[in-house]
Amino acid sequence: MLKSDDAAIQAAARALRTARRVVVATGAGMSQESGIPTFRDAVTGLWARYDPEQLATEAAFRRHPARVFGWYAWRRRLVRAAVPHPGYRALVALAGLVPELTIVTQNVDGLHTRVGSRQVLELHGSLERFSCVEARHPFPADRAPEPEADMECEPPRCERCGSLVRPDVVWFGELLPERVTAQAWELAASCQAMLVVGTSGLVQPAAQLPFIARDAGASVIEVNPEPTEISGLAHVVCRGRAGAVLPALVAALTEGATR
Ligand code: APR
Repeated sequence: MLKSDDAAIQAAARALRTARRVVVATGAGMSQESGIPTFRDAVTGLWARYDPEQLATEAAFRRHPARVFGWYAWRRRLVRAAVPHPGYRALVALAGLVPELTIVTQNVDGLHTRVGSRQVLELHGSLERFSCVEARHPFPADRAPEPEADMECEPPRCERCGSLVRPDVVWFGELLPERVTAQAWELAASCQAMLVVGTSGLVQPAAQLPFIARDAGASVIEVNPEPTEISGLAHVVCRGRAGAVLPALVAALTEGATR
């Protein structure tokens, strides 16, 4: 396993240069430099006293719908105010440098799509979509209440069945959306390189993706400032933040291409 900075970036560039199909698996750390706290970051203010893992469940929503709906409204405001960092644009550029690239993200913030990445699979849904809690009927986003301040907020009711409307994200204990999950698993098993960015590798089943890729013979490259569950299996580890490492990787690939 390669660790030293420049050598690791060069090794990652080599792996990407020879890959036909590339998968980029991103987690909460990808958005950290854009000011969106990860689930494990400390939060101040109204929401500091709640454990996110206790809010992101269907049971919590049924018990305290206004609290959970208000918490998601707060997260949507953070995301709307966030400015995607240069690592996001580097992934848009990377897609133009390899034959095929798909981003498989655990994030619900939509930042990859906002900066122009085209092939994005959202494993955990999106903050900007809504559905009802009973039948998962879609609910129009422009009719969801958006409180101005950090506060609890009553969710609206489904126009078809009258049940409460929830954010269309995957909560702890829920199954991932079937179609995007099947696509992601198939891509992981058939890619030649997987870039794993900003994920602790603790949340299943998304944490399986790098293992599937490695077992199928792909080069696994980790981008993360900290050691994780993925570090041990990665062929190349780039220890650093996504906002610095990804642009450096694209620069290394571009230099290589013109040589
Ligand atoms: N660049 C790259 N990685 C970073 C950065 C950064 N700037 N900052 C932090 N990280 C890394 C951390 O070192 C950590 O390994 O990002 C990882 C974030 O880990 P988690 O918060 O566990 O995020 P993730 O793996 O995406 O799991 C979160 O679980 O919380 C639920 O459903 C929610 O999708 C979410 C998932």
